[in-house]
Amino acid sequence: DYNERLREFEARIARGEKIEPGDWMPEEYRRQLIRMISQHAHSEVVGMLPEGAWITRAPTLKRKMILVAKVQDEAGHGQYLYHAAETLGISREAMLEALLSGKAKYSSIFNYPTLTWADIGTIGWLVDGAAIKNQTMLAQCSYGPYSRAMVRICAEETFHHKQGKEMVLLYAKGTPKQRQMAQDAINRWWWPALMMMGPHDKDSPNTEILVRWGIKTKTNDQVRQEFINEHAPEILEAGLSIPDPELRYDEQTGNWRHGPINWDEFWQVVSGNGPMNKERLEARRRAHAEGAWVREALEAYAAKKQKAALA
Ligand code: 3HC
Repeated sequence: DYNERLREFEARIARGEKIEPGDWMPEEYRRQLIRMISQHAHSEVVGMLPEGAWITRAPTLKRKMILVAKVQDEAGHGQYLYHAAETLGISREAMLEALLSGKAKYSSIFNYPTLTWADIGTIGWLVDGAAIKNQTMLAQCSYGPYSRAMVRICAEETFHHKQGKEMVLLYAKGTPKQRQMAQDAINRWWWPALMMMGPHDKDSPNTEILVRWGIKTKTNDQVRQEFINEHAPEILEAGLSIPDPELRYDEQTGNWRHGPINWDEFWQVVSGNGPMNKERLEARRRAHAEGAWVREALEAYAAKKQKAALA
């Protein structure tokens, strides 16, 4: 009966076994994973927009090639993740409809504008840096297809992170104008990067069940703390400042303490009223409409092939 199956399911999780698509799982486990993985995939696809805006304006061919490679990687991450979500029984069309209709969430971070080229390096360093902390945690996830997708994605994110950090460190030691651009970008992206990891644990309704079933192996605040502990000292060592007057290192715990996060801003952005939410959804809707001919051609080709096979 259900309780017996649930006990066996939870025993498998406790033994560190991976749950695979054909295995029995509680409906809530399936729903949570569809929610998280599809929103993760949407984040990767929408995440191409802020950076894509600078591909035609990269300062050198080398920077342009690195940026094109990074944006292509994000597209691929979106594909792996949509596929991982499909193993749970949701269709690609249903996920896309949820995004394009504005019903589905995607990461708040991509609703901020990229105002100068220094934003591109700062996104690589801070946004991909935060993503690596979150995705390294998710690589331990109890659901097989998700954790395997994370292993592949983390390897590529490491490159994104390194190229971003290298850029910002270069500009921090560059001309006064370059240093000012790097500082301005850190000032605008620091707090949104902290918010990316989600609300505080006490305000996180999904974390308890996700931790219980091994989907999350760390909480939002733990991942956020890992991010701050790595990036705060490195930004300061680069001679840049961090826009948090209360930030300080706590010898006792080895953690960097930070000031209050503006959760009103976070919920405004999550509910669609961020600086760029409208533009992001419009861009996705336009791309979907302009790409309709590709989908139609694929369907026509598949139908022709099937007809030929049946002839
Ligand atoms: N942006 C938008 N919505 C967010 C959010 C954020 N940064 N953080 C939390 N939320 C939403 C949650 O989705 C949830 O709403 P829902 O129940 O309607 O989905 C609500 O706020 C409450 O938050 P919870 O903490 O209870 O939600 P979770 O337990 O799901 O934790 C999370 C949030 C840590 C983002 C988790 O969902 C997660 O790990 N998701 C998978 C990873 C992911 O999506 N990362 C986004 C970054 S994109 C990226 O990495 C691209 C890279 O290439 C840069």
